[in-house]
Amino acid sequence: MTNKPHSHAQWSSRIAFMLAAVGSSVGLGNIWKFPYMTGESGGGAFVLVYLVCILLIGLPILMSEWLLGRLGQKNPISTMSRIAGRLKRSQAWVLIGVGGILAAWLILSFYSVIGGWALAYVRYGASATFTGLDGDSVGTLFSDLLASPGTLLAWHSLFMVLTIAIVAGGVAGGLERASKILMPALVVLLAVLVGYAATTGSFGEGFDYLFRPDFTRLTGDVILAAMGHAFFTLSLGMGIMMAYGSYLSDDVNIGRTAMTVVILDTIIALAAGMAIFPIVFADGLDPAAGPGLIFQTLPLAFGNMSGGVLFGTLFFVLLVFAAWTSAISLLEPIVEWLEEKTPLSRLQSALVAGAATWILGIATVLSFNDWSAFTPFGMTMFDLLDYVTSKIMLPLTGLATIVFVGWFMGRDEVRAQLNMGSTAFAWWRFSARFIAPIGVAIVFVWGLMH
Ligand code: TRP
Repeated sequence: MTNKPHSHAQWSSRIAFMLAAVGSSVGLGNIWKFPYMTGESGGGAFVLVYLVCILLIGLPILMSEWLLGRLGQKNPISTMSRIAGRLKRSQAWVLIGVGGILAAWLILSFYSVIGGWALAYVRYGASATFTGLDGDSVGTLFSDLLASPGTLLAWHSLFMVLTIAIVAGGVAGGLERASKILMPALVVLLAVLVGYAATTGSFGEGFDYLFRPDFTRLTGDVILAAMGHAFFTLSLGMGIMMAYGSYLSDDVNIGRTAMTVVILDTIIALAAGMAIFPIVFADGLDPAAGPGLIFQTLPLAFGNMSGGVLFGTLFFVLLVFAAWTSAISLLEPIVEWLEEKTPLSRLQSALVAGAATWILGIATVLSFNDWSAFTPFGMTMFDLLDYVTSKIMLPLTGLATIVFVGWFMGRDEVRAQLNMGSTAFAWWRFSARFIAPIGVAIVFVWGLMH
């Protein structure tokens, strides 16, 4: 017992790290985006490709970002500059960090608008708006929200203010403590919803839809979407995990920790799917409804279950919380960069970065109503932002990261960071040098061509 304070300090920093990593990765990507993408892509085949991408591409890249961060001990741009300099490699590797910051800005601009939808649904939940809704009225509730730019803008603004406040003020301590309760609460509530879905009668149909692949639905674009989502959901390809890796102590086992984060993230996404699709089929809704899918399905469950007002409100509160912890991780690198590269203080940096993101978010707000006919490259502004980030920027920076670790770093240096047995390391290195980069390259080129 004499060394208790020491071991406690170790434990709490490991937990803090896990919370930060899980907080960043588990967000709208799992509960909002994964189910609707599955529905748009026709179900099981998408899910299967997504799972393969998470394991063969996401996991090694997550480990690469953490080990780079732990080696470099700085923000992503300085980390890449430092390691590349020491290894006498080109400073062009710094582009990984630059691309990441740009992607963060683009992603957060629409992420905040969707976070705003979740806030609006907290209000609906609390005012018992869901009670007694049927499939049609649930659709109207959602389309009325989208049709009102003023309302969307107000919720988007509130979500941005919440995000800026945390990043500017660094009340991260309280957030960490809250995460320890709210993240498990989210898991419990999802389990309740899956339980409810299991009693609706279409559970088997929902299950089949998610897990029985129909390979005729696999097009280049579906595969690219699945891979892009693997990056998005694990917060990869933006140097965020690299930044977190810089706080990682040397005794933390990167492989095991990455596996834990990946499993948790995947379970939460699959649980969201298991909660949503049985309701979709039981009520004859359209699985391909798009970004509104969870907002047009779960309120039906809340409106018809006992305790629905409580559960409905709580669910959207937890969704907001999950979105919030991810949004913080999106704003943080931009602010960190402004603070280091300009004379701005932390507060000023947070305000400038937040304002720039808020302004760009207006394009997403309007893409659902006044500007819905404005479609450069055949996409609305929201679709375009999502496409450019998930399907182009994240895969490219992720590819650069794994190529750097696989081909431009010494074998022994990587091995010392990962601290694996020799067989496990041989497999890891093989996937980092060949499987993951070739996989990303093929899917990327093929997906863009089809
Ligand atoms: N992973 C988060 C989600 O699933 C979103 C996110 C946070 C993200 N930080 C990121 C995506 C960095 C890409 C890169 O909702």
